[in-house]
Amino acid sequence: MPRALLDKTLLYVTGKGGVGKTTIAIALGLAAAAAGRRTVVCEVAEQDRVSRALGRAGVGREGTEVELAPNLWAVSIDPERALEDWLGRQLGGGAAVKLLTLSHAFQHFVAAAPGVKELITIAKVWELAQLERWDGRSRTYDLVILDAPASGHGLAMLTAPRTFAEIARVGPVRRQASKVSGLLEDPERTGYLAVALPEEMPVVETLELGPRLRDAVGLGLGAIVVNGLHPERFTREEADELRALDGSGAVAAALAEHERARAQRAHVRRLRREAGVPVLTLPFLFEPELGLPGYERLARELGRRLAAAGARRARTVA
Ligand SMILES: Nc1ncnc2c1ncn2[C@@H]1O[C@H](COP(=O)(O)OP(=O)(O)OP(=O)(O)O)[C@@H](O)[C@H]1O
Ligand SMILES: [Mg+2]
Repeated sequence: MPRALLDKTLLYVTGKGGVGKTTIAIALGLAAAAAGRRTVVCEVAEQDRVSRALGRAGVGREGTEVELAPNLWAVSIDPERALEDWLGRQLGGGAAVKLLTLSHAFQHFVAAAPGVKELITIAKVWELAQLERWDGRSRTYDLVILDAPASGHGLAMLTAPRTFAEIARVGPVRRQASKVSGLLEDPERTGYLAVALPEEMPVVETLELGPRLRDAVGLGLGAIVVNGLHPERFTREEADELRALDGSGAVAAALAEHERARAQRAHVRRLRREAGVPVLTLPFLFEPELGLPGYERLARELGRRLAAAGARRARTVA
């Protein structure tokens, strides 16, 4: 049986803007950390959202790994610093690195070919899970959760390693790129997870994501998380009774909320029918700010649902 999602080395969390990628990356991180895995949640584009979400603002220089909870770390990947670390490793540190990493040299390198920045960034993600880290000091992680940027940038990051493994003339770049693409294309070690809202367009886009991922890395989605499901408060009969009442403001509002919850479930059913992968749902939490208790609640729900999906799959395989 394939390894369960939380047992992988890399979890790639993707989805449209604002659907809850960061929230779910954190919740997955808490679930994995609670299961005893040394976990890092990383984000890529100078956002620092993960540590801010958990109330650790201003946590030092970009690229620094920060402990958020027992076994759970966060890092915001800075490509410039990642390149410095990589060069340090290649050249053994010292003056040569300082010279090479002068800011204009970095810009020159990044401008040299499309995809270089993406390659450095995803190579840094790979590095977090290596026993021997580039700086020769930091400890490795059992699980790296990547809070990936929205699809376009994300796909560029996924395809860069294979491209460079094929075209790079410089030995170390080629070797590094093929190690990274080896991880991204390995279904045992890497899982792809999409987050979607239970609405028409997000569902359509999520269904298109599987084939696009297959083109990029040869693997499809491992699971879809539908986030923000509203509770269904009434049965069909109760709703009919409400409709028969003279619709005052409160009754109309309750009915509208009921219709919305029902429509959401229709979108979840469509995903279940058409996506061909486990579809897990998470409730909408009616809280002004999620905070640690909110993330922990989502983590528990996710843990339970992932276990149930794993058990279902095991029965199918058996
Ligand atoms: N299940 C939920 N219940 C209630 N609020 C939620 C839930 N999931 C996410 N949110 C809230 O929705 C907002 C967007 O979530 P989040 O930042 O995780 O989305 P994102 O996909 O990472 O966004 P971006 O594309 O901007 O990075 C946040 O304010 C978050 O607290
Ligand atoms: Mg985010």
